[in-house]
Amino acid sequence: MSELLPYGRQSIDDADIAAVVRALKSDFLTSGPEVEAFEREFSAYVGARHAIAMSNATTALHVAMRISGVGPGDRVLTSPNTFLASANCAAYVGAIPDFVDVHPVSHNLDAEALRSTWSDDVKAVVAVAYAGQSADMPRIAEFARSRSAAVIEDASHGTGGGFVHDGRAWKLGGHPWADMTVFSFHPVKTLTTGEGGMLVTDNDEFARQARLLRSHGVERDRGRFQGFGTDTGPLGERGPWVYEMQDLGYNYRITDLQCALGRSQLAKLDGFIARRREIVEAYNTAFADLEWLSVPGTLREADRDHVSWHLYTVEIDFERIGRTRTAVMQALRDQGVGSQVLYIPVHLQPWYRQTYGYTPGKCPVAEQFYARCLSLPLYPLLTDEDVARVAKAVRALV
Ligand SMILES: Cc1ncc(COP(=O)(O)O)c(C=O)c1O
Repeated sequence: MSELLPYGRQSIDDADIAAVVRALKSDFLTSGPEVEAFEREFSAYVGARHAIAMSNATTALHVAMRISGVGPGDRVLTSPNTFLASANCAAYVGAIPDFVDVHPVSHNLDAEALRSTWSDDVKAVVAVAYAGQSADMPRIAEFARSRSAAVIEDASHGTGGGFVHDGRAWKLGGHPWADMTVFSFHPVKTLTTGEGGMLVTDNDEFARQARLLRSHGVERDRGRFQGFGTDTGPLGERGPWVYEMQDLGYNYRITDLQCALGRSQLAKLDGFIARRREIVEAYNTAFADLEWLSVPGTLREADRDHVSWHLYTVEIDFERIGRTRTAVMQALRDQGVGSQVLYIPVHLQPWYRQTYGYTPGKCPVAEQFYARCLSLPLYPLLTDEDVARVAKAVRALV
């Protein structure tokens, strides 16, 4: 049997390896110049004022919740069709994670359903860009902000992607309809640092707080405390050793080794996205005539050329073809084609049911999508032959 093609994997080349080796041989393994340079280059790429690199997107989401002032007694609305972290971040700060059903085409938090699900205790919305396609950020932000709620964009799937609004192209993280945007650099994502994440924002105060919370809430401003200015440390002392804990923070730092890899990957990001788009188009063409399978669509036609596809998720009518999803996954596997189910709706996870009493039927569109979805291999290193092999294996299912 041919080698198994996974549903996603990293693309690492010699330039990436050389970049990490250079960082390893440098004076800084963490909190050094590679971190600062990665942040600078990333913020310029997406078009945000600030980028704060973190240990992963989960920690970045936690920090975003803290900065938004979300806590006990508050509710945070997100999409059920996501990885656990988009909702767990609300529970970390003692708030109630709650779920808004998804749009049947984009499978992202539905702006219309947001209105009908809203309650007075909602303090923040976490809008996920499932598979890389943006949620309807302008409509979501317009409504959430009119109710004084924070808007967090979870663009973990969508690094480098964007959307069109009022005839203009915007990048995820670089538009005015989110207070903070979070990205993930896990190996299956579009750009990788091994583990890693980024929080971007145009808000100077949010950026300052994100830097504080990333590193134990500690401020270490040499200029302030050295004795040249009028400021003193917590005990009234002055000196180059002085540091102040201003808030209860964490160690959510990322290393220079990871950021060296991130910078090298960022230089190739447009190429990664273009190749992913090419593969998506090839699959769409190969599956166009199948009545039992739907290919991923976009909310607006204009968005097609702007999506940075992380996942290629099709919907299969398993009943119609008379095969279970397990049988389909096994048949694909027998042809060397890996697949994955993304996602089990978060509100149906045992912890969510036990803790918040959520039950099936809460988000019918997301639940129906879950019943039919299957993600097929998508990553830049897939060759045209690999893509043809996947297409052939899928078509041979019926
Ligand atoms: C939508 C979404 N949000 C957040 C995360 C968390 O990312 P990380 O693994 O970098 O913590 C993931 C990871 O899969 C994700 O898919």
